[in-house]
Amino acid sequence: MATDLEHELADLLEVASFPPPQAFAKTAQITDGSVHEAAERDPEGWWLEQATGLLDWYEEPTQSLDDSNPPFYKWFADGTLNASFNCLDRHVEAGRGDRVALHWHGEEGEQRAVTYADLLGDVQRFANALKDRGIGRGDVVGIFLPMIPEVVVAMLACARVGAMHNVVFGGFSAESVRERMEFSDAKALVTVDGARRKGKTAPIKASVDAAGIDVETTFVVRHTGIDTPMGDGDVWFDEALAAADAQCAPERLDAEHPLFILYSSGSTAKPKGILHTTGGYLTQVAWTHRYVFDLRPEEDVYWCSADVGWITGHSYIVYGPLLNGATSVMYEGAPDYPDKDVWWDLCERYGVTIFYTAPTAIRACMKWGPEYPGRHDLSKLRLLGTVGEPINPKAWLWYYLVIGGKRCPIVDTWWQTETGGIMVTTLPGAQATKPGAAGTPLPGIAAQVVDEQGEPVPPDTQGLLTLTRPWPGMLRTLYRDDDRFVSTYWEKFGPRTYFVGDAARQDEDGYLWVIGRVDDVLNVSGHRMSTAEIESAIVSHPKVAEAAVIGQADEDTGQSVAAFVTLEGAFEGTDELVVELREHVALRIGKLARPKRIIWSDDLPKTRSGKIMRRLLRDIAEGRELGDVTTLRDPDVMAQLQGRVQELQAEE
Ligand code: WTA
Repeated sequence: MATDLEHELADLLEVASFPPPQAFAKTAQITDGSVHEAAERDPEGWWLEQATGLLDWYEEPTQSLDDSNPPFYKWFADGTLNASFNCLDRHVEAGRGDRVALHWHGEEGEQRAVTYADLLGDVQRFANALKDRGIGRGDVVGIFLPMIPEVVVAMLACARVGAMHNVVFGGFSAESVRERMEFSDAKALVTVDGARRKGKTAPIKASVDAAGIDVETTFVVRHTGIDTPMGDGDVWFDEALAAADAQCAPERLDAEHPLFILYSSGSTAKPKGILHTTGGYLTQVAWTHRYVFDLRPEEDVYWCSADVGWITGHSYIVYGPLLNGATSVMYEGAPDYPDKDVWWDLCERYGVTIFYTAPTAIRACMKWGPEYPGRHDLSKLRLLGTVGEPINPKAWLWYYLVIGGKRCPIVDTWWQTETGGIMVTTLPGAQATKPGAAGTPLPGIAAQVVDEQGEPVPPDTQGLLTLTRPWPGMLRTLYRDDDRFVSTYWEKFGPRTYFVGDAARQDEDGYLWVIGRVDDVLNVSGHRMSTAEIESAIVSHPKVAEAAVIGQADEDTGQSVAAFVTLEGAFEGTDELVVELREHVALRIGKLARPKRIIWSDDLPKTRSGKIMRRLLRDIAEGRELGDVTTLRDPDVMAQLQGRVQELQAEE
């Protein structure tokens, strides 16, 4: 028998569009289209106003966009500022030092309230510790830390001295860290003794050592207290802080001074070092954090459940909230430990008013059932957000009903590591939301859906999403690889039209419905991965001759990784080898990249020129009618693979 909730969900599925809830709209900061209109009249002038209004500058910029050398755009180039000053000092100087910046909650229930003054103190000391070791403007510092306040301290200390941080997501393997440190030529690494996950402790410093990471200094945060080998060039983070001077004046940096590199997956095995600079990035994240989330820093308690190692964490755990003087929750652990209600427990405990998460997390909660949120008082929540992948209407409605109690608008925010900040969504007090659609381009942003030739397609027609006007938070290049920057984003449609890599359609109201990636990038639980990177990890196993990886539609994680693997002659595809290969991928890249399915194949479908036809593999994996196979070198391969996949599915 269907429950009341199921009935209500079924009824709401008929509703195509939800206007801003009345009580919300009454107090929202933006309630009509005037901001969109003002920005549209003069986008560059409008962005300049936001830059000077939202940030404190040593020298205020008089220039907005410099597009004299596309696609190498600059923003606010004659201004100077410092990111850490804007995140911390100015709040403390204005008497807000006692405000809690982070309500940190540890996995075992520990609590720390970290104020703006606390952060400023630690950031100055760590900035001095960096300077003492010769690290300053233009140097790269790697950061490999769990969700603890020290990650924020380390990032902002880099920004204070003009060094770039290069944060690696804690779920990646030490091998991935090594690679990213090498690519970026990092001078130092900030890591941790051990990391906790669901009651267990993983030795992080020891695994980093085992990977042979070559940096001059490794700072080690004492977090779990496990036995940790310390060698030459290794320094305890707390001891470095204690030994450092308490005052450190922020560097006055050009708006275009690099702020950070963040490696992200592209269509080759080598991750891309996406480079963001200071003034433009900060302007966009400050604006979007304030107005997309309708943030009122004095009253709101904000929580973004992402990890700081992804762009969402950089922009909407660290920079956006701190620039705006917000109070946030930071949680170390997993969503189902000690129990599946821990998120809702935290929302109640800290009085969370704004909650931002990924569709995959919502689908997991849906599966666990409404009784977990039902144990807690969620009435303080007033706005919900999603990011990272398209959300299916059913999950959207569940979020709206069960978590938001029909009071809270949902902002579905579309953006990328490359865009720096949110690009497409709805302004929650001004625009209606449509379950499944991200929304319209934000003020100052321009997007268009086009065909392969770059011609705009009619409404409601699927095409390629492009961004047709530079925006302040845009990536400036790929670190030390301008050529790849140009060829990845600016070749297909020229240096003034940014190629996104997503398919989308735009409806009659101008709402964008993002469908998914068109390149060889996978999206598993909102985490970006490259098929080529996983293939190269699999092929590095001595028993493997060849591999092709595809993304398969998955009810829980959006997509999951499926690998078609051909073994070296003498080896047989056994269950033990499946386990071994999955473990091998976890060691090379990280657990999140492990294939969910491995399909043994004697051969892979290839064109006569030897190119693997992934489209056909996707058709097989998803049980679709096969497309054109006439260009294949050996069409019989297909029948064999289809048989294997059916066997596997029968076993599952
Ligand atoms: C996808 C994450 C649909 C998209 C901030 C994009 C989305 C890629 C949405 C970037 C959304 C992100 N609706 N798809 N609201 N948000 N995506 O770099 O395919 O980790 O290109 O940045 O995620 O992933 P990235």
